Amino acid sequence: MDGLVVRPAARLRGRPALPGDKSISHRALLLALLAEGESRIVAAGDGEDVRSTAGVVRALGATVERLAERDGRVDYRVVSPGGGALAEPEAILDCGNSGTTTRLAAGLLAGLPLFAVLDGDGSLRRRPMGRVVEPLRAMGASFSGRRSATLLPLAVTGRAPLEPIDYATPVPSAQVKSAILLAGLAADGATRVVEAVATRDHTERMLRARGVTVREATLEDGRHEVRLTGPAVVRAIDETVPADPSGAAFWLVAGAIHPDAELTLEGVSTNPTRRAIIDILRRMGADIEERERPTPGGADGEPLADLVVRSSRLRATDLGTAEVAAAIDEIPALCLAAAAAEGTTRIRGAGELRHKESDRIAGIADGLAALGARVRVTGDDIEIEGGRRLTGAVTETLDDHRLAMTFAIAGLIAEGETTVLRPESAAISYPGFFRELEGVRA
Ligand code: S3P
Repeated sequence: MDGLVVRPAARLRGRPALPGDKSISHRALLLALLAEGESRIVAAGDGEDVRSTAGVVRALGATVERLAERDGRVDYRVVSPGGGALAEPEAILDCGNSGTTTRLAAGLLAGLPLFAVLDGDGSLRRRPMGRVVEPLRAMGASFSGRRSATLLPLAVTGRAPLEPIDYATPVPSAQVKSAILLAGLAADGATRVVEAVATRDHTERMLRARGVTVREATLEDGRHEVRLTGPAVVRAIDETVPADPSGAAFWLVAGAIHPDAELTLEGVSTNPTRRAIIDILRRMGADIEERERPTPGGADGEPLADLVVRSSRLRATDLGTAEVAAAIDEIPALCLAAAAAEGTTRIRGAGELRHKESDRIAGIADGLAALGARVRVTGDDIEIEGGRRLTGAVTETLDDHRLAMTFAIAGLIAEGETTVLRPESAAISYPGFFRELEGVRA
């Protein structure tokens, strides 16, 4: 597929099928590798990123079976000999396009006494790895790679036990926190991670559900602390993956900015560390109804809801660094919402977006500008003057799934034809996205 043409929709209705949460799916596979015995992962995301993690888990000695597929989700059965008995991989571990696979696997490998090499595609080879290498080296693992082991390919030699660490993350990153916690399982003593802003807490919840004691606290200065004590054993359990709020975000924005829309999104995680997109859109005036569902998995499980979004009149808003961190993957979609809102939206301190699958600040600014929006970028701040009618244009996705899906949604409301160049990257996180896009026009 070269370019995909999206035409405006007269109405949007329906219940688009959502992918299984990508963050949770990666973690479920990696924790199943550490746990001895059989783990079932129901309704996992089946995008290319999660498949990359499944490949890494296989290469390290677990059997990973795909039991069933439906609606772009997959049920996995993983059988592992357990963390103490994993195999040294014969070949390079291919992480594809997935930063989460790479950084979490780096943390896990740090605590295994074997040699492995992590690599990925061109985009992943440009992304910063020093942020995990530095603390993992301090814990006793060895890394070598280009530019002082800050870029892939990275060779890792792990060690057990590792030294525990007390570490304040320099940028709020759930991947960095999770890499350290996974390494902490193999450390002799108490590992502590402090973050300026609490990032997504799936690793913490999922470790607790697997029998590991993980303590969290808010410090007096407002920072967030996570602690665990190693060596710790991860138990095999079965887990059902909720729908991905980052995938739901595209429909929330589509429904809110389209003049005749009502969309229902079923079984979405409303985890407090993931729901910022809902709260920010509501603050902008979005009509989003939230129907709570019972949480499977007890206190450590994910809170769930069905979300109903209807056509809304949006107003501009301001986002600072804490909200940028909380909605990091949803900022491209939010920028589109801002372009459709009355007034000027200011997003400050969004520098982390330059280190995603593409430079998302440049990518979103160029794409929205091509569609006729007024966007100004100053350093790491984005200003979007909303309320102008968008007109169809050719949009460059930079092979970034979140940009491809954002521009496709823009095509539903823009006048004329919108071309999304190289849209196939959507399959990184949301393989059924374009099918659902056709489905909601009905
Ligand atoms: C993720 C954390 C975030 C996010 C990514 C998934 C995770 O990355 O952007 O899509 O699953 O931990 P950072 O930790 O680099 O912010």
